[in-house]
Amino acid sequence: MTGLPWDASYHDGPAPWDTGQPQPAIVRLAAEGRFAGPVLDAGCGTGENALYVASLGLPVLGVDVAETALAIARAKAAERGIEEVEFVAADALQLKRLGRVFVTVLDCGLFHTFDGGERPGYAASLASVIEHGGTLHVLCFSDEGLDTGPHPVSQEELRSAFSPGDGWDVAAIEPDRIQTRYHAGAGAPAWRATIQRI
Ligand SMILES: C[S@@+](CC[C@H](N)C(=O)[O-])C[C@H]1O[C@@H](n2cnc3c(N)ncnc32)[C@H](O)[C@@H]1O
Repeated sequence: MTGLPWDASYHDGPAPWDTGQPQPAIVRLAAEGRFAGPVLDAGCGTGENALYVASLGLPVLGVDVAETALAIARAKAAERGIEEVEFVAADALQLKRLGRVFVTVLDCGLFHTFDGGERPGYAASLASVIEHGGTLHVLCFSDEGLDTGPHPVSQEELRSAFSPGDGWDVAAIEPDRIQTRYHAGAGAPAWRATIQRI
């Protein structure tokens, strides 16, 4: 688990990606009814996306390796009185250990942190916890456009990580944006991928 280096990102004020709001792309997906419970938020950070989806009445589990982020997420849930959400420490590369399955999995900003060697294991880990017919939503930095975020990925990298041979159907990859604390205005170019578990 890479928990310790990640945890340090949360020690001195908000991390660069931690805007204190759910990502607008995720809010739009939710408004379109694209989440069904139970929902897993893999690499949930301080939980804004998980908390938003849970506030709509869906059961959500947020997992992360950073204990500091999880403590902040739990405190927000308590402050806001959101009970449908749970935050636990878990390695997204070993999700089978949760012993649970989900209808929708959200990856907001995690996929693009894994290098090419880690991605097959990550996809297999996700496959072990998504119901057949379930949906994975990935919001990641894209390699197209100006002012890209760190570790931008191409559409081809997404398609090769989630291939039909491994039980995935990449239903759509659409341009979107990721808000960060250092991209002013519209945020950084992103891909919003809708990936079905066959
Ligand atoms: C770029 S941040 C995005 C956080 C959150 N999804 C958001 O949108 O604010 C990536 C998160 O993934 C977590 N992370 C990194 N590697 C992980 C792993 N192997 N398992 C679980 N979480 C991981 C980090 O601790 C960090 O909170």
